[in-house]
Amino acid sequence: MRLSLLLLAAALLIAGPGRAYAACSVDPDLEDGVGSGCVRCSADGARCEECGERYGLKKDGTCVTCQPVLVGKLLEEKAPVRCYPATTVSKAGGFPALYPNAKGECEYCPTPGCNQCLPGNGTCVQCKVNHGAAPAEAGGVTCVECSTDLPALMCRTCDAKDTKKCLECRTSGEFLKDNQCVECSSVGIENCDECPDGKTCKTCGYGFALDASGKCVACPENCDDCSEPGKCSSCTGGFGPDGKGGCTACKIDPCTNCTTSLDTCEPLGCEFGFYFDAEKKACTPCAEGCNYCLGAPDNCYGSCDDGYGLVVKPDSKAACERCTLDNCTECNGDLAKCNKCNTTYFVDSATGACAKCGEGCADCESPTTCNACSTGLGLVDGKCQKCQLENCASCDEGLATCDFCADPYYLSDATKKCEQARLNRLFDLLSRQTTL
Ligand SMILES: *[C@@H]1O[C@H](CO)[C@@H](O)[C@H](O)[C@H]1NC(C)=O
Ligand SMILES: *[C@@H]1O[C@H](CO)[C@@H](O)[C@H](O)[C@H]1NC(C)=O
Ligand SMILES: *[C@@H]1O[C@H](CO)[C@@H](O)[C@H](O)[C@H]1NC(C)=O
Ligand SMILES: *[C@@H]1O[C@H](CO)[C@@H](O)[C@H](O)[C@H]1NC(C)=O
Repeated sequence: MRLSLLLLAAALLIAGPGRAYAACSVDPDLEDGVGSGCVRCSADGARCEECGERYGLKKDGTCVTCQPVLVGKLLEEKAPVRCYPATTVSKAGGFPALYPNAKGECEYCPTPGCNQCLPGNGTCVQCKVNHGAAPAEAGGVTCVECSTDLPALMCRTCDAKDTKKCLECRTSGEFLKDNQCVECSSVGIENCDECPDGKTCKTCGYGFALDASGKCVACPENCDDCSEPGKCSSCTGGFGPDGKGGCTACKIDPCTNCTTSLDTCEPLGCEFGFYFDAEKKACTPCAEGCNYCLGAPDNCYGSCDDGYGLVVKPDSKAACERCTLDNCTECNGDLAKCNKCNTTYFVDSATGACAKCGEGCADCESPTTCNACSTGLGLVDGKCQKCQLENCASCDEGLATCDFCADPYYLSDATKKCEQARLNRLFDLLSRQTTL
């Protein structure tokens, strides 16, 4: 009885009513305020674990659009954005795109629904997802939202003159039928990315190849992608070509990439902290503190271990050497000047040394302000104070509430307390399903 209920709960979670719906879905577009904003969901699909650029992860496992902060000058690469935990941010509305105006300042694109506009005059050149574009008198385009008759977010673009007419679907693996998007798999075309005519597959999904009969067949074992059935073009990490189209384990340990031959590891193919020594034909450890090295143990690049800084040596090799200041985790360029301090410390900009945050504070920029408290404490009235609920990891919304629980506890929707077993979670979710 208990088991069958669990199975039912699991089935409901996975399938849901009608079209598959999990609490978390990966967003193909990452456009402000349009999709879920999520780039990685948890294994059980219940919550988002990593949000895209310009999104912030909320405590309930959803992503929220970051609020652009209009500061004087546009930073070189990215528009300056800051993420507020934001209850004030309307997710549905999103934010209009930014562009550098003639004075080099950030400004919102003036055209409603615009996703990209030209630097200088702000002429809109691309509409947001779920919009149709029509030529504008002054050049560029105007954007109209697709009709609400089309399921929300089904369409990438619709006809601006007839917004009920979808022109391009948003999700790969769908095709247009009577101006609506239909999944290839719903007409029996499986593992297909593109089936424009709804009859045969044109492009198979990743990990599948088109066979002579127009079907998508899975690539060989331990193969990520193949151009034709049985012929691997890219083996999974740790595997290399077996000479017969398939993939077999690399002979070198710990090698993650032996694409060229089984007894060679690609230059960047050794695991973290190792490099390929061609003479020894082995992945060999990098020097102490060095996470990535190339050709020699002390030829470091990229990031160093915590407490080490990357410095260029007279022979123009870069090495990771120990930071000289206490509690310093990063000191690239100058070992006696800290870029980043350990948790509960901050960089004192006057001295470049690490100084202690206030009591119970894990992340701060000064001893009197706090961005985040240590585990088990909540930031309330600007101070880190003890959470009242047992096994609660954070309670910023109030000391008697819990934002999230310490591992392996989870926050029960029913009791609002930190509960223990994972199985209970399914029952909890089941009760949520039935109340929907
Ligand atoms: C806006 O600027 C672009 C070049 O950045 C130019 O091609 C276009 O003609 C301008 N449009 C208007 C309306 O001034
Ligand atoms: C393996 O190395 C090759 C060549 O260095 C590179 O092109 C390829 O992307 C790498 N594959 C993986 C899975 O990292
Ligand atoms: C940072 O703190 C942790 C635990 O408090 C400690 O183990 C680690 O050695 C510290 N690192 C540095 C560079 O001080
Ligand atoms: C910070 O540095 C001080 C002085 O060396 C040391 O006593 C303390 O343990 C360090 N804290 C951490 C977290 O590493």
